[in-house]
Amino acid sequence: MPVVIELENVSFVRQGHKILSGVHWWIETGQHWALMGANGSGKTTLLKIITGYEWPTSGQVKVLGKQFGETNIPELRKHIGWVSTAIEQKLPIQDCAIDVVASGLEASLGLFRDFTPEEYARAEESLKIMKAEAVALQSFNTLSQGEQQRVLIARALVNRPKLLILDEPCAGLDPAARMRFLRDLERLAAMPDAPAIIFVTHHLEEIGGWMNQALLLKDGKVIAVGSPKTVFTSENMTNLFDSLCRAKCDPDGWRLVMDK
Ligand SMILES: Nc1ncnc2c1ncn2[C@@H]1O[C@H](COP(=O)(O)OP(=O)(O)O)[C@@H](O)[C@H]1O
Ligand SMILES: [Mg+2]
Repeated sequence: MPVVIELENVSFVRQGHKILSGVHWWIETGQHWALMGANGSGKTTLLKIITGYEWPTSGQVKVLGKQFGETNIPELRKHIGWVSTAIEQKLPIQDCAIDVVASGLEASLGLFRDFTPEEYARAEESLKIMKAEAVALQSFNTLSQGEQQRVLIARALVNRPKLLILDEPCAGLDPAARMRFLRDLERLAAMPDAPAIIFVTHHLEEIGGWMNQALLLKDGKVIAVGSPKTVFTSENMTNLFDSLCRAKCDPDGWRLVMDK
């Protein structure tokens, strides 16, 4: 299996604070990861390091076979789809959905050139994968949060990335929209040539059977890594959130029961 990400002993220090400490993380093609941690545990910082927006204080980063420090990061980013609120804030939100998706072809923010009919066809194909083709001509800022999230993922998919990073993609979705959205992600994950996916959340209820690996981050340190069954134990969840709780897995999926 080709390796998608190799992080070796990655640490990140800012203003005397250790935000990440000694992180080892190895992701292979075909794996779909849940990355979980409390607010401020360093999840987004870790993703910024993987996408080259932050540089580790120490340690080695290799993404899609390219060693950071020896590779062209903007070029590499074209093979990584990253969806986070950080990107959303920089989008030309008055543009229609299909233009927002097409802007992903350049891994740029905003439309600065005309796209060819073939490129628009690719943008439309991405919208279809995310079941958002019906809103193609609607301006982004008039879409519901669930529709916006689908359009942003379609944008991330337009370059057919090898790695798709979803940083808390369900934040702000109502329960029904969240359920539909998670089902569509499951379908995406099952497609042939699906990218490796990193799904970030702090809700155990969002973990689906399609996520085959999990990593728990607490205060910038990896406290558990492996299959969801071995990682999402009551003991690990209690440690992760510093609060007594029980992790349950039944046919409807995972859930967390908080004890007093
Ligand atoms: N560039 C930076 N300078 C200083 N502090 C930072 C920087 N980036 C992140 N942090 C801090 O690191 C901690 C982890 O943040 P973040 O990675 O966003 O956590 P999460 O995504 O898990 O909620 C937070 O306390 C945040 O304030
Ligand atoms: Mg975050």
